[in-house]
Amino acid sequence: MSEQPAPDLGLRVLRAWLKSGSPLGPLEVMGDEMGYFFQIPLPAFHPYVVFGPQANRAVLVTQRQKLLWRNTDPVTDLLWRGVLVVDGEEHEAYRKCMEPALHPAQLPAYAEMMVAQAKRVCDGWQAGQVVDLLVESRKIALLIIFQALFSQDIGKDLPHLWQPILKAIAYISPGAWILWRQLPRPSFTAPLRQLDAYLYGLIAKRRAGPPHPDLLQALIEADYPDAVIRDQMLTMLIAGHDTSTALLAWVFVLLGKHPSVMEELSLEVAQNDKSPLLDAVIKEALRLYPPIHIGNRRVAQALELEQGVIPAGERMFYSIYLTHRDQRIWEAAEAFRPQRFLGGRQTPPFSYVPFGGGPRACIGAAFGQQEARLVLTYLLRRFRFEPVHFERIHPHMGATLEPRPGVWMRVQPRTH
Ligand code: HEM
Repeated sequence: MSEQPAPDLGLRVLRAWLKSGSPLGPLEVMGDEMGYFFQIPLPAFHPYVVFGPQANRAVLVTQRQKLLWRNTDPVTDLLWRGVLVVDGEEHEAYRKCMEPALHPAQLPAYAEMMVAQAKRVCDGWQAGQVVDLLVESRKIALLIIFQALFSQDIGKDLPHLWQPILKAIAYISPGAWILWRQLPRPSFTAPLRQLDAYLYGLIAKRRAGPPHPDLLQALIEADYPDAVIRDQMLTMLIAGHDTSTALLAWVFVLLGKHPSVMEELSLEVAQNDKSPLLDAVIKEALRLYPPIHIGNRRVAQALELEQGVIPAGERMFYSIYLTHRDQRIWEAAEAFRPQRFLGGRQTPPFSYVPFGGGPRACIGAAFGQQEARLVLTYLLRRFRFEPVHFERIHPHMGATLEPRPGVWMRVQPRTH
């Protein structure tokens, strides 16, 4: 480790935890105090945390062979053989099978559908109504992901699927299980079974019916058993919608807090097909509030970094959040300044990693960015958004980094 911790660090970490209401506060204190390399000082949970361009490059590219994505935690318990939690050849096979459906060349085919799902959700909004953009964004993202990957319109099933999906997300979110791995979690059994039954139903229907050119079809044609197909479907549906939900919701938080940017952006998207400011706002939201704020690994072979060595067998995280707020790299790191992304790259490689990096970078990065662009353009063209009760909003560390307790905004149809 680079330095010895100050004697009152434990107390300050605790205070930051209480003040921020989540482990994000302590991570910031530790990062400020210890630099790019530290270990979380809890008795039953003591992962190493690294951040910054050099460590990110090592974790994502140069020393990635020493690391495993499969861990002993609820993410692995839930997704079981999902592409996110397996390694080696097994990982490569699933990834190769699913990549074509998410390839940039495939994206134009989803564009119209993405806008149609946004329209469908906001057709239900009344003039002057206060809506929670966290909830509404999730509806849009779920409709999109099921339609794009499984050719399934879940419009009428959404009310029944809503709770099971939120339960699946809660199951993999940080919680008491971190300290007490054997904690019984009986309240999850029924909803997770319900979600599985739905996915197995989709597989059975597809096997019995006509083919559709989508991700589900690719898995069926690769001859995987139903259980493996279920694991990939659940992985893609959670990784592919919870992240987009968080991104959309954070953009609304930031625009609500910066009305002049919202005004300028609304004008730009109303007048143009392409909006450089919108791209910059999305990038800046991903910098300040990266939906996946840490990458989780198990060390198979000692990892040698400039600041220290992480021994085999340990759990480690690379912190995207701390990387994106590093004052040594980002000018006014805490400030919302979309303009910083308007002039091309200004910071070193691996200093901006909202989608990870290297061979296991996000498989849905292009899909997620197109979705955000199209949905935001549509909503901003159609409505004015006015923040309500924004003072309570704070980042919550769930499966993704999410604005809680919600993003309430009054919506007014535009009349131009
Ligand atoms: C704004 C949207 C998104 C963000 C910010 C995001 C972020 C990330 C990040 C940071 C990683 C790498 C994590 C690590 O290194 O530990 C990742 C991996 C992954 N993402 Fe995304 N993601 C987004 C959208 C999507 C979408 C739309 C899908 C699927 C349709 C998806 C599926 C996956 C999968 C399967 C992986 C694991 C890839 C592998 O291990 O080969 N993501 N994502």
